[in-house]
Amino acid sequence: MNILLFGSTGMLGTALEQVCKNRDLNCYSALHKDTDITDPDDLKQAIEKFVPDVIINAAALVGIAQCECDPQKTFDVNTIAVSYLARLREEGNIIFVQISSSSVFDGTKNDYYTEDDCVSPTASYSASKYVAECFTKTFCSKHYIIRLPLLFGPRQNRGERFVDMLIGKLQSDEKLEASIDKIDSPTYTIDAANVILDIVEGAKPFGLYHVANHGKVSLYEFVSQFVKVSSSNLQILKAKDKDFKSPVYTPLALPLKSVKLRSLRSWKDALQEYITKSLQIKKL
Ligand SMILES: NC(=O)c1ccc[n+]([C@@H]2O[C@H](COP(=O)([O-])OP(=O)(O)OC[C@H]3O[C@@H](n4cnc5c(N)ncnc54)[C@H](OP(=O)(O)O)[C@@H]3O)[C@@H](O)[C@H]2O)c1
Repeated sequence: MNILLFGSTGMLGTALEQVCKNRDLNCYSALHKDTDITDPDDLKQAIEKFVPDVIINAAALVGIAQCECDPQKTFDVNTIAVSYLARLREEGNIIFVQISSSSVFDGTKNDYYTEDDCVSPTASYSASKYVAECFTKTFCSKHYIIRLPLLFGPRQNRGERFVDMLIGKLQSDEKLEASIDKIDSPTYTIDAANVILDIVEGAKPFGLYHVANHGKVSLYEFVSQFVKVSSSNLQILKAKDKDFKSPVYTPLALPLKSVKLRSLRSWKDALQEYITKSLQIKKL
């Protein structure tokens, strides 16, 4: 099976590349510097060069607040590029995997969101991801849409997401505020990548899937556990979501669950493995 991967330097892409390698799958990574997904000619060239059976699009502009600063670029990368990809892959009869986000929901459900729930995007980022889902469904008969919650895991590029900021502070004696009322299902990218490839390799029915480690937790509890397992001296202070200024409404609770897939291991077990592995790599 030939897989063409976009976004391989990012947090999820790094894991997808690693898991493909572990499974001896032919994974060709189209790097941003060679292939800009907003350029249809670049995309066509990449598809002609690698002749994939499967395209996985993990490339995106990510982050609700960050994307609100440049909605045009957000829609160009997250949505318009997906419409190009979706149409191109239909010509080649290729399976298309589009990575999406729990942020398509408004966060008011007070329970896990499943594949059966109605979406209600509240910002440029979430709207861009939702319309990309629509293009994927419209233009591709053979598609998988994978919605993910808050991710943690290794990455090849420089990240500026919440988890990257947390890792950057672990060696310090600083104080970090984290919300007690922001709820998520933190998910290890390696676990998510394994499930995505199980779905593709197992030829599961095409459609929408939620992929998340088991459990829901406040950002405060997640960060506290991260700090504890890392044996860091970083002090975590309790805060409320309203204490953090944001240019846009950010959903309060986005835990995900699947009604189609079996449950994954808990986020705590996954976090323990991630931190233990990263510490081992640092010691080498
Ligand atoms: N991170 C999360 O917590 C989270 C949560 C839910 C869903 N997701 C979804 O998961 C997917 C992957 O997210 P991530 O966190 O791995 O993102 P990320 O770490 O920010 O990586 C984004 C990737 O996209 C590439 N890219 C950006 N613009 C591009 C362009 N114009 N052409 C080609 N490549 C481009 C980047 O390449 P360079 O680095 O070389 O520029 C990088 O490889 C996204 O669809 C995101 O919406 C992420």
